[in-house]
Amino acid sequence: MSTKKSTTTTEMLTQKIKLPNSLQIPQIHLGLYEVPPSQTSSVVRTALGVGYRAFDTAQWYSNEAEAGRAISSFLSSPSLNRDGLARSDIFYTTKLRHNYESYDAARESIARSVEASGLGYVDLFLLHSPLGGRKAREASWRALCDAVSEGKVRMAGVSNFGVAHLREFSERGLEREKWPAVNQIECHPFNTQTEIRKVCEEMGIAVQAYAPLARGMRFNARGSKLGGLAKKYGCSEAQILVRWGLQKGFVVLPKSTNEGRMKENADVGWFEISEEDVEVLDGLNEGLVTDWDPTDAP
Ligand SMILES: NC(=O)c1ccc[n+]([C@@H]2O[C@H](COP(=O)([O-])OP(=O)(O)OC[C@H]3O[C@@H](n4cnc5c(N)ncnc54)[C@H](OP(=O)(O)O)[C@@H]3O)[C@@H](O)[C@H]2O)c1
Repeated sequence: MSTKKSTTTTEMLTQKIKLPNSLQIPQIHLGLYEVPPSQTSSVVRTALGVGYRAFDTAQWYSNEAEAGRAISSFLSSPSLNRDGLARSDIFYTTKLRHNYESYDAARESIARSVEASGLGYVDLFLLHSPLGGRKAREASWRALCDAVSEGKVRMAGVSNFGVAHLREFSERGLEREKWPAVNQIECHPFNTQTEIRKVCEEMGIAVQAYAPLARGMRFNARGSKLGGLAKKYGCSEAQILVRWGLQKGFVVLPKSTNEGRMKENADVGWFEISEEDVEVLDGLNEGLVTDWDPTDAP
């Protein structure tokens, strides 16, 4: 087993990577998919207490306002915000549910989300998927780029974009600064997305790995290689998966509503998976889709 200098959970949660556009992004975010609006406030507050500084929501999740409000009230509460964090210490991502052929409709929808967050600006705004067709992708992307120019959004990115959708940015002749900062895709050892990742790398687009735990679908399988590696490293299967994503250089978005599991998923700074074992994990690829896969949508 390789050794490395131990990094604390708090350090892991504040650790940032530099994107090709030179902006920085925390490498671990808390995913908020399927966190009911009624629980979002307490989940976000708990996560902030654990040390999470980055949150991934979406119009689709119906918890943008609750997440934003929980962040604002944490920041303004001296008893909770003991480190004196400012808005700029938090990274808030949301996503446009639909791509619109109407530029104005996209603009309005983006503005509504920024407003709903109550945070003044959104750090990262993504087109949630390529669905809707090329014209809708193009108009919605223009609207996002304009929101960036106006300062309502700091970075624009995409999600679930496949190779053909990514190529559209160069085909349209857009200058490099108007290409997505990130592509958020399902990515874990059971779905390694090699083709899309290769194009992201060529185009200087960072990968955000969603469902990094494969939604727990491959945990506790008798005799599994994942289980064997967890035993070998003395950690949990979830920690092996988070660590794999981090070592690949992805931004990872593990979701948990449970304080202990939130901590566990970020407590991965004390070990490193050897190159050999990373290859073992790469070999588990089976194209597993845990939720949806619109990466080859027309
Ligand atoms: N762009 C997109 O289309 C898209 C699609 C899917 C997801 N996402 C984003 O990615 C985030 C993560 O993906 P995901 O929520 O689908 O799946 P995930 O993070 O891979 O897995 C979440 C599941 O694993 C459980 N879990 C968490 N930590 C655990 C641990 N240490 N041990 C055992 N079980 C654990 C959670 O339950 P508990 O909550 O009970 O801990 C939950 O059931 C989402 O929340 C969302 O922000 C984006």
